[in-house]
Parts: sequence; C-alpha cells; structure tokens
Amino acid sequence: MFIDHAKGHYLPDLRRILERGWLHPGSVVVADNIKVPGAPAYHAYLREREGRGWRTVEHDTHVEYQPKTPDLVLESTYLGGRETGWNPAAAGPETGSLPGLGATWWRIWKFIMKAPAW
Ligand SMILES: C[S@@+](CC[C@H](N)C(=O)[O-])C[C@H]1O[C@@H](n2cnc3c(N)ncnc32)[C@H](O)[C@@H]1O
Repeated sequence: MFIDHAKGHYLPDLRRILERGWLHPGSVVVADNIKVPGAPAYHAYLREREGRGWRTVEHDTHVEYQPKTPDLVLESTYLGGRETGWNPAAAGPETGSLPGLGATWWRIWKFIMKAPAW
C-alpha cells in the first residue's frame, strides 16, 4: 500500500485500514513525505511499535524536484496483531502542525521551493 495523500490523514487512515482487516502479516506500507510537509504522528506511531506489530525501514530521500531538501520515505512491514483502545469515529486528521494545515500550505511550500531565486 502506498500512502501519499493529505499528510495529516496518514495515521487515522492507516488505523482505519487496520480496523477493517485489510492488512495481513507481511503487508508492506510505504509512506512518502514523512519530513516535508511531514507526518510526525504517523512516524511516531510506527517508531513506538517497532518490532511489536510493525518493522520499519527509513529511506532518506529528498523532496520531489528539490534535491537539496531532505525528506524521508518509510517502508513498514505489518507483523500482525490487533489495535486496542482506539475509536475510529473520534479520530480526525492531525492538527496544530504543518500537516494539519493541509494541501494549501503544501502547494504554497512547493511553489516557493520551485521559485528560480531559490
Ligand atoms: C501527491 S498526490 C498522490 C499521487 C499518487 N501517489 C500518484 O503517484 O499518482 C496526492 C493525492 O491525494 C489526494 N488527496 C488529497 N487529500 C486526500 C484525502 N483526504 N483523502 C484521500 N485522498 C486525498 C489528492 O487528490 C491527490 O490525488
């Protein structure tokens, strides 16, 4: 599964997919733009579960068209096990951070970084 949509939705959507039983042990989830614009809650979630439900390889890369701007891609293998203590109905996207601000800021960021003066 490739995750590459609204950054603040990475974690709640992953958890919804887990709740529905769509992943099985050995399923691989690849997520782009972990640093820029960033998906810190998703990153923290997988770090907390390293070796217990998930095994993640972090791939250093750069933002698309921006070789000088570091980014991170996560390649996470699901090891199995059930999530507990999470209410999908109450879960929303991340807020209070750049990812939570959504696609508009991401477009502005990309526009700035592509400006010739930069
Ligand atoms: C960076 S593009 C992904 C490109 C895709 N990985 C590809 O290679 O074609 C982001 C996509 O996420 C979609 N998107 C944005 N917010 C979303 C959301 N909340 N739920 C689902 N998709 C969303 C956008 O419409 C856009 O098509």
